[in-house]
Amino acid sequence: MFSKLSTRLAPQLTRQQQTLHSLKNATKLTSQKVFERENKYGAHNYHPLPVALTKGEGVYVWDVEGKQYFDYLSAYSAVNQGHGHPKIIKALMEQAQKLSLTSRAFYSDVLGEYEEYITGIFNYDKVLPMNTGVEGGETACKLARKWGYLKKNIPHNQAKIIFAENNFWGRTLSAVSASTDPSCYEGFGPFMPGFETIKYNDIAAVEKAIQEPHVCAFMVEPIQGEAGVVVPDAGYLKKIRELCTKYNVLWIADEVQTGLARTGRMLAVDYEEVKPDILILGKALSGGMYPVSAVLANDDIMLCIKPGEHGSTYGGNPLGCKVAMAALEVLIEEKLAENAEKMGNLLRSELSTLPKDIVSTVRGKGLLNAIVINSKYDAWDICLRLKENGLLAKPTHGDIIRFAPPLVINESEMLESIDIIKKTILSS
Ligand SMILES: Cc1ncc(COP(=O)(O)O)c(C=O)c1O
Repeated sequence: MFSKLSTRLAPQLTRQQQTLHSLKNATKLTSQKVFERENKYGAHNYHPLPVALTKGEGVYVWDVEGKQYFDYLSAYSAVNQGHGHPKIIKALMEQAQKLSLTSRAFYSDVLGEYEEYITGIFNYDKVLPMNTGVEGGETACKLARKWGYLKKNIPHNQAKIIFAENNFWGRTLSAVSASTDPSCYEGFGPFMPGFETIKYNDIAAVEKAIQEPHVCAFMVEPIQGEAGVVVPDAGYLKKIRELCTKYNVLWIADEVQTGLARTGRMLAVDYEEVKPDILILGKALSGGMYPVSAVLANDDIMLCIKPGEHGSTYGGNPLGCKVAMAALEVLIEEKLAENAEKMGNLLRSELSTLPKDIVSTVRGKGLLNAIVINSKYDAWDICLRLKENGLLAKPTHGDIIRFAPPLVINESEMLESIDIIKKTILSS
């Protein structure tokens, strides 16, 4: 039987052998070859910085030629716990050898343990486990619509969700329907009905929009990450909480990027001691090991979705659950929120000393930061030179550079990386 199978699979095996051969030769790969191969065989939906990475540990990554860099992007805040955290790797390996996936057709002995753990940490009745951040956003929107029909008596198919301009929550058709960035939505219509946007950081706009009786939810990031680390005025979140309660509208907080210690608190909403009705987490929920996202809410909302109405084959799988528990434990045990706050203060105070005619603005909270580069200078060029000097950061919107290293960064690493940034910028 096996010999028959192998004859049938002969062409694939040849291809596999080729792949093995190229993997064996991977050590000989140059960065240039890596760029060319991705460019030839991969879709051109990203514009990466020209660096080909092969290894990561803590705050560092290495390219295929062996050059070491500070990782100042942390995979868009997924690697808060640092690259290759031993505790998360151990959890991943142990569970992978035991049971990785059951689907939700059956119970597993790990899902409930994880659900109890994460709901305890964030103080919600229930969690709905998914995989990516954008699935978290989709889930929150579905949940809010269902709640709107069942609990707020919004007429059939007329529920509205309000978003803030310049939001970013991923690349699905729903997410791009909520976007105000043409490079996200242009050419991808028709769009999801029932989505509206208002100005970010504008409380009067929130109040005006959510009074409308068909509005079921207002979804917002406590700090807009992809928009360029836009921090709203103090009191914005508190006011959102008050208004959403007043008008019986659900507040959905998208903490996929801001959450999990990144901004110097476990959640960015903790700065104003407020609790969203629906909380979305992702990215660092697995410490960069594996896609794990979560939507948290209390029973009156979460139980609006009934069996068969939502789910995902991988959502809540034992492997992801164990990884997420380890990733959360690391954040707590290593006091990474405290470290993010301390290191972030140091970073911003040092960056603020740079000449204003080059760096016009320094902003952020904890270790989610950005600098705005004066239009006389080119942010992409600065990032290329940062790379040459041993630090990886990515420009956004042409003139903004985000600085978001792993939260395990210590003071001497922080000072060394600040030195690289200062020298690079001063040589502009
Ligand atoms: C605030 C926010 N929400 C959602 C997402 C989407 O997450 P993912 O890329 O895992 O789907 C992102 C990604 O950058 C994000 O920044």
